[in-house]
Amino acid sequence: MNEFYQKDIISIKDYTKDQLETIFASTDKIMQLNPQDRREICKGKTLGYLFYEPSTRTRLSFDSAMASIGGNSLGISDISSSSTQKGESLADTVRIMSIYSDVLVLRNPLDGSSRFAAEISDKPVINAGSGTEEHPTQAIQDLFTIKKEKKKIDGLKIGIVGDLKYGRTVYSLLYGLGNYDVDVRLISPESLRIRSDSTYEIKKRIDFTETTDIEDHLDELDVLYVTRIQKERFPDEEEYLKVKGSYVVGLDMLKRMKDDAIILHPLPRIDEIAADVDTTKNAKYFEQAEYGKHTRAALLGMILNENGF
Ligand code: NCD
Repeated sequence: MNEFYQKDIISIKDYTKDQLETIFASTDKIMQLNPQDRREICKGKTLGYLFYEPSTRTRLSFDSAMASIGGNSLGISDISSSSTQKGESLADTVRIMSIYSDVLVLRNPLDGSSRFAAEISDKPVINAGSGTEEHPTQAIQDLFTIKKEKKKIDGLKIGIVGDLKYGRTVYSLLYGLGNYDVDVRLISPESLRIRSDSTYEIKKRIDFTETTDIEDHLDELDVLYVTRIQKERFPDEEEYLKVKGSYVVGLDMLKRMKDDAIILHPLPRIDEIAADVDTTKNAKYFEQAEYGKHTRAALLGMILNENGF
């Protein structure tokens, strides 16, 4: 039996380096399978999704990953059309979804929501974003992208820029990077530095420096991970307006970076990367989105198929 069979994915902190490497190897393997063999992996299985927040890539990549391994998906992506609107609790909705599906994918604005759902569901739960806390499958996709594009993770200098306070992908990525020997530069406006409750944990495992000045670090970075200012999580609009547009990665910045540096972004992008960067060889955020489909297919394949693939 493979070690991920019927297991939840709640936090990237639950994974060792060996386990992450197993997931990357399985992703490589699944990418090489021909479509017909790939469709055998989860034939007849159903993924149920519950998205209490907007999503494009995460939900669609789960959908398309599941279809590519022979399964199907059903669920709720517009919560206003569900019984939540009538007052049904998250617990009851999760219970019902776990009757109709073999694995549950949940996105919810509350920290701790996925852990809570996993306690209720008798089917495995995958956290597709829990409040400002974590987004573990995004981090798996991000780490896989770094590994594919840079051929390694150990030894890299990685800049993470933008909204480090509210961006959940940043936390999952940092916890994941904690398994590797990396030098991290955390670049943000003063008011959007990473939350102090997490710095304790991250400090134990990663060498990082915090700064507001991106220019000082550009020429050293191997990877620049750009994030969106999370407008919807600000307690008031005034605060958002103060930091809106703080960093915009454009061709001028790119010129000052290493020739083989890569630019990543979990997307959606608002204005933090100029559109003319998209066609450069350094821009890897669309590849990153594509790898998301394959990493999720590999994860679903291992969770739902006892013998793996
Ligand atoms: C991210 C999220 O939902 O946290 N989106 C995604 O899943 N790729 C990032 C974001 O919304 O900024």
